[in-house]
Amino acid sequence: MGSATVVRAENLSRHYRVRRSMFVKPATLKALDGVSFELESGKTLAVVGESGCGKSTLARLVTLIEAPTGGRLEIDGQVLEGVRRRDIGDLRRAVQLIFQDPYGSLNPRKKVSAILEEPLIINTRLGRAERRAAVADMLAKVGLRQEQSERYPHMFSGGQRQRIAIARALMLRPKIVVADEPVSALDVSIQAQVLNLLKDLQEEFNLAYLFIAHDLGVVRHIADDIIVMYLGRVVEHGSTEDIFTRAGHPYTRALLASTPRLDPKLRRKRGAAPEGELPSPLNPPPGCAFHGRCPHATDLCRQERPELRAIGDVRIACHHAEAIA
Ligand SMILES: Nc1ncnc2c1ncn2[C@@H]1O[C@H](COP(=O)(O)OP(=O)(O)OP(=O)(O)O)[C@@H](O)[C@H]1O
Ligand code: SF4
Ligand SMILES: [Mg+2]
Repeated sequence: MGSATVVRAENLSRHYRVRRSMFVKPATLKALDGVSFELESGKTLAVVGESGCGKSTLARLVTLIEAPTGGRLEIDGQVLEGVRRRDIGDLRRAVQLIFQDPYGSLNPRKKVSAILEEPLIINTRLGRAERRAAVADMLAKVGLRQEQSERYPHMFSGGQRQRIAIARALMLRPKIVVADEPVSALDVSIQAQVLNLLKDLQEEFNLAYLFIAHDLGVVRHIADDIIVMYLGRVVEHGSTEDIFTRAGHPYTRALLASTPRLDPKLRRKRGAAPEGELPSPLNPPPGCAFHGRCPHATDLCRQERPELRAIGDVRIACHHAEAIA
């Protein structure tokens, strides 16, 4: 199986008009602002950052739940702008979403067999016997026993429910899976099992993963590349190895310092955890949005926004990246 670029985002933005009360005029909230990346089949791109930095917004755009307000998005070779409605339907099948809380997305009144069969009933012309066979096949692939398919979601543990959600997402053989914090709600011991399952399935189906997480520790063993986001913008983008061994952006370093389960020596070397409050996304600071929390901030940082630029093999949005390294 070869690799092909299956997601290409260029300057992707999603701005919201937000009205805080009747008496003030609506403000613009830049949930996502000028984000660019490429994702290839068989690869995992992780998106990491604190709460509210725009991760789920990005997930909604790539899964075609919401349209961008700016920029260009190409999914499976098709540019989204001006795509006919019928073609959007086909594209939707190519991209599937897995959530943090599978309980919220699994119908509690349906047995697992019906939950897995449903996408086939809606989207394919397969007959009942073929659908049943496909369900049995997928159950085995996600490590559930056949007799468990006659049970309801509440009869499973959190980890097993996430296996069911993964099985459902794969029933239509998507090319791209967007996983929005898929293991954040699970016990640490279960997280590794689900991550290993995702890796095995990726290899078997040549899947491209857009893998969203709060925590760099979670993505270390699954991501090929990592995007670090802050207030809707990418602050660093590089290979997983580069991010873990020579992260250049002070925010990435702070995230690494606060990553539990990371080698303490590595953590200390990286500096302190991010201190201070995340600024309001409705009123982001001028210049570098991180300047109020950054130990290296200068007047330049307070005045001019640093653009993302290549430094070695990594892309970093920081005026002083070279000096800090
Ligand atoms: N429909 C909406 N209308 C207005 N603002 C929104 C909307 N959806 C998201 N936002 C805002 O956009 C910003 C990004 O939200 P998003 O949910 O993408 O963040 P996140 O990184 O997924 O956070 P978390 O880690 O908490 O899941 C937040 O400030 C959020 O309040
Ligand atoms: S641009 Fe300045 S404030 Fe922003 S991360 Fe770099 S050093 Fe810190
Ligand atoms: Mg989110």
